[in-house]
Amino acid sequence: MRYRQQLSVSYAYDVVFTRDLFRADNETLSEALPQSEGPARVAVYIDEGVLARWPELPKQIAAWCAQRSATIQLAASPTTVPGGEAVKNDLTFVQRMTHQFQRLELCRHSYVIAIGGGAALDAVGLAAAVFHRGLRLIRVPTTVLSQDDSGVGVKNGINFDGVKNLIGCFAPPYAVLCDLNFLTTLDRRDWCGGVSEAFKVALIKDAAFLSELEALAPRIAARDLDAMQRVVERCALLHLDHIRAGGDPFETGSARPLDFGHWSAHKLESMTQNQIRHGEAVAVGVALDLFIAAKMGFITAAERDRICAAMEACGMVLWHPALAKPSSVSGLEVLKGLEEFRQHLGGRLTLTMPDGLGRKREIHELEHEHIRAGIEWLAARAGTTITEAAARFARSAV
Ligand SMILES: NC(=O)c1ccc[n+]([C@@H]2O[C@H](COP(=O)([O-])OP(=O)(O)OC[C@H]3O[C@@H](n4cnc5c(N)ncnc54)[C@H](O)[C@@H]3O)[C@@H](O)[C@H]2O)c1
Ligand SMILES: [Zn+2]
Repeated sequence: MRYRQQLSVSYAYDVVFTRDLFRADNETLSEALPQSEGPARVAVYIDEGVLARWPELPKQIAAWCAQRSATIQLAASPTTVPGGEAVKNDLTFVQRMTHQFQRLELCRHSYVIAIGGGAALDAVGLAAAVFHRGLRLIRVPTTVLSQDDSGVGVKNGINFDGVKNLIGCFAPPYAVLCDLNFLTTLDRRDWCGGVSEAFKVALIKDAAFLSELEALAPRIAARDLDAMQRVVERCALLHLDHIRAGGDPFETGSARPLDFGHWSAHKLESMTQNQIRHGEAVAVGVALDLFIAAKMGFITAAERDRICAAMEACGMVLWHPALAKPSSVSGLEVLKGLEEFRQHLGGRLTLTMPDGLGRKREIHELEHEHIRAGIEWLAARAGTTITEAAARFARSAV
């Protein structure tokens, strides 16, 4: 017998931008919970980097929940989780979370509220997605990158064997509640790092947004929260739109447009043991691919230069010495990132490139000579050379 089983499951979740999520009169969270099921049992996890800058947060959350005991009940006091990439490099974290979920007797009707940067959200999200095959995850992203990209999507994951996101799953969240006030305590690197994802998506999808980013650059550099709100909201919408309407929400194909500029970025992250942050690596990766796109005639050199200047005007650095790290096999270590990227996506190597500003095309090959020339170009813009940088890289053994 052959029977073709056909399932169609539709998902819907709210993505809300607010300020001061746990202020006594802010109802954003209560509105995200169903009103008909009795009080929601909730376990809250807070990124340690957030807690360091918002020490009153656990008390504020407890008070906010206490005022609404008919709607929401804390299963335990909020728990701190490690922040940054360290949490994704530790498989035992998922195990520890599982123990705790079990101790708290969370069930598939319980809620996990994860408050933090993209790394903490990815790791807590994975634990929540696999426990009892899925708890209800409410993400509260607290960095630019997690509000404008990672936190609004459908992926969770951790790193393994030195490979980014080697273990993970697709699991849409229950809701995403972005509190813009959290962005005010980010350090400089995380404030402008996440803006690289906005340039990334604008370059391949939205020329008008790209022009807006160019215009907003000085305000972003000056840490203007209203300007940043415009950037994260527009960028998040473009990501949501792609996931909803792009035809491949769970990435079964070989193309991944939202990973434009990421083949080298992921490699830089692992080569530097995450000393370079994801957003910073994406800025470098986008600049490198802009060079290649110009070389291949997809954009003009003037367009390339204009966009790189705008990224720098926001505060991004478009160079890292690890780009120059030599390899006996491929000449430059970063070139191995191409094959790793292909393996991660599966199938034939497929890279997204801009095709004019604001449109995209796919290619299946990158000339190593173009990549090398691009790295030389970025080095020269940073006032160095591949040879000089390689020596420095070896000395610092980054
Ligand atoms: N799931 C996805 O679809 C997806 C997409 C893109 C990126 N990502 C992942 O996201 C991660 C990067 O996320 P990120 O850029 O948010 O960095 P991050 O999570 O590494 O956070 C950076 C630092 O900021 C701290 N922090 C967080 N919020 C803060 C706040 N409000 N004030 C002060 N400090 C704060 C954290 O503790 C950490 O030390 C990477 O692991 C990347 O792979 C996932
Ligand atoms: Zn990214």
